[in-house]
Amino acid sequence: VAAASGHTVVLVDQSDEILKKSTKGIEESLKRVTKKKFADKPEAGAEFIKKTLKNLTTSTDAASVVHSTDLVIEAIVENLEVKNKLFKTLDKFAPEHTIFASNTSSLQITKMANATTRQDRFGGLHFFNPVPMMKLVEVIKTPMTSQKTFESLVDFSKAVGKSPVSCKDTPGFIVNRLLVPYMMEAVRLFERGDASKEDIDVAMKLGAGYPMGPFELLDYVGLDTSKYIIDGWHSLEPNNPLFAPSPLLNKLVEEKKLGKKTGEGFYKYK
Ligand code: 3HC
Repeated sequence: VAAASGHTVVLVDQSDEILKKSTKGIEESLKRVTKKKFADKPEAGAEFIKKTLKNLTTSTDAASVVHSTDLVIEAIVENLEVKNKLFKTLDKFAPEHTIFASNTSSLQITKMANATTRQDRFGGLHFFNPVPMMKLVEVIKTPMTSQKTFESLVDFSKAVGKSPVSCKDTPGFIVNRLLVPYMMEAVRLFERGDASKEDIDVAMKLGAGYPMGPFELLDYVGLDTSKYIIDGWHSLEPNNPLFAPSPLLNKLVEEKKLGKKTGEGFYKYK
């Protein structure tokens, strides 16, 4: 999305194999976007894809490429220790002015900022799946984020064509604080045997106008990600029934049924 809006992007991941898969995913996503946007002008569409991919390079060594960046957007595993280790390393090699942002779904931005020496140049930029389609970005300001950093993050969100909203550094920010307990309540409804998952999905689509039912959405987001979120909140507030873990979700994750990405979650995918 950043590359498509004219920004120079370095995509960093752990191996060339993953980067190859990611680049292929980006190309496919661009084709979907282009098909609609340039329906009558296939040549302009092909040019748009070419230009976007020209803005994108890849690397497996974050420390060696961070020197040329104005903004780092971290979107790695939802584990605070792993994130902090990465931020600490990047902090050593990044230029003074570079802003760090996390795309975390549920972890505290303040705790990550405190792992660095740039607490005033640190915030949250939370995007939504699928990022090319979902117009929202939550911009998170910690008590240490400077106004200038906050405004830069808002400006960047607008520059990539999104509508930013602002939220304090509270668990789940706005969307996940409402969406995750709703999806967990759906799982509990199903666990109690009150309704089938198929009927719950149909009900929320046709009765509440949601584009996906809660089980479709859980599979789409990834059951591992959903479990990371709920487990993290449960450890913060063990007595909050909205954050109670689900035996069924835990079982599926244990069986490596993580949703659409592994071919099976609550539903099976071909
Ligand atoms: N890349 C590019 N375009 C994509 C895409 C992708 N990965 N996925 C879907 N699209 C586009 C399609 O090309 C299509 O475009 P068109 O309408 O212009 O032709 C459009 O999206 C609709 O796609 P489909 O016709 O295949 O399917 P749907 O009409 O069912 O829409 C959906 C798919 C947009 C994913 C819709 O079901 C939806 O909005 N679902 C809800 C998603 C949601 O709630 N996301 C938030 C999850 S929570 C989160 O991300 C937070 C995290 O922290 C956990």
